[in-house]
Amino acid sequence: MRFDVGQIGNLRPIVNRPFSPIARAPWLPTMKQEEIKLVKTGRLPIGRRVPLCPTMVAIIFITRSVALHAAETPKQPVPFSHKQHAGDLKLACKMCHPNPEPGERMTIVGTAACMQCHSAIKTESPAIQKLAALDRNKRPMPWVPVYAVPSFVDFSHKVHTSKGAICQDCHGAVAEKNELARESDLSMGGCIACHKQKEAPIGCTACHEQKE
Ligand code: HEC
Ligand code: HEC
Ligand code: HEC
Ligand code: HEC
Ligand code: HEC
Repeated sequence: MRFDVGQIGNLRPIVNRPFSPIARAPWLPTMKQEEIKLVKTGRLPIGRRVPLCPTMVAIIFITRSVALHAAETPKQPVPFSHKQHAGDLKLACKMCHPNPEPGERMTIVGTAACMQCHSAIKTESPAIQKLAALDRNKRPMPWVPVYAVPSFVDFSHKVHTSKGAICQDCHGAVAEKNELARESDLSMGGCIACHKQKEAPIGCTACHEQKE
């Protein structure tokens, strides 16, 4: 099986990821096909050849990697704090992130689980009133994703936690944070760096499938 690096069109969406509502966090820049072609071949999509200027290539890569890996703090619909809930109150991660079978996604519990406490705690807070209103109308809280891999990447939480990986390996010191930001490198380079270190597979087909 041959892989053409730089041709996303060749990678098949991994079909067994049923809960994937988005391909990736929307504020992360995607490298466009044209951009990849330009960098790899020095050819613009219209077919005109441009001189491959090393400085320009370096600038594209540096700005992209800074944008991809800088800590982004998305604004959430209510100011939920992990420091308060997982830190101070010492609630277990799996209470709110139960990892249902087949184990690919951790998931975030619905408003009903929050209301077990918040029907009585902080009921005067506007954030809790918003939570309560959504719960009454059986509407989900529109949480903004922090971490996401594109649909052509195979990723399963259970595969990792069953081999002893802990949440902090990939998500950092969550229980100390009021607001979560994408702080670890879970781009292809970051995945492969850990795979090399732990002697996990690094062949392309470990994480991607090629289109027929
Ligand atoms: C085990 C009980 C418990 C559960 C479950 C729980 N919380 Fe809380 N929550 C608390 C406590 C205690 C506080 C802190 C109250 C205080 O500051 O006095 C709090 C504070 C908050 C606040 C800050 C309110 C403010 O205005 O200060 C928000 C927002 C919040 N929780 C949202 C949620 C959401 C969303 C869920 C479900 C995913 C949830 N909570 C689940 C106990 C809980
Ligand atoms: C009381 C419920 C609760 C507990 C306990 C809790 N979380 Fe969360 N978690 C949430 C909610 C609500 C969100 C969505 C809002 C946000 O991103 O802050 C979330 C978001 C996350 C995300 C980002 C998800 C995404 O969209 O990319 C990670 C990672 C995470 N939690 C890890 C943890 C870890 C690790 C622990 C244990 C140390 C933990 N959580 C404990 C409720 C909880
Ligand atoms: C090997 C790295 C790794 C480990 C270990 C890990 N995560 Fe994740 N997590 C990710 C990646 C990558 C994503 C984005 C997944 C996607 O888009 O399908 C993610 C997404 C999430 C999400 C939001 C989307 C979803 O899957 O529901 C939550 C919540 C979350 N992780 C919580 C946790 C908790 C809690 C733990 C510990 C029990 C944990 N993670 C352990 C890498 C990891
Ligand atoms: C903290 C280290 C770590 C990180 C980060 C990590 N992995 Fe892994 N991964 C492992 C380990 C360890 C295994 C288990 C290898 C084994 O089965 O012995 C594994 C296994 C896998 C497997 C199963 C491979 C197979 O054929 O059995 C896939 C797929 C995978 N990881 C994808 C990813 C992706 C995608 C990312 C980045 C989003 C990622 N991993 C990040 C450590 C990591
Ligand atoms: C351990 C998992 C893993 C392995 C092994 C892996 N990849 Fe990836 N790959 C990823 C992840 C994760 C992304 C998404 C990166 C992002 O969103 O920043 C990705 C993205 C890509 C992309 C899209 C590039 C872009 O800019 O969006 C291509 C093309 C690709 N991989 C090809 C390959 C090839 C060829 C190999 C073998 C040499 C390979 N991958 C091996 C995890 C992996």
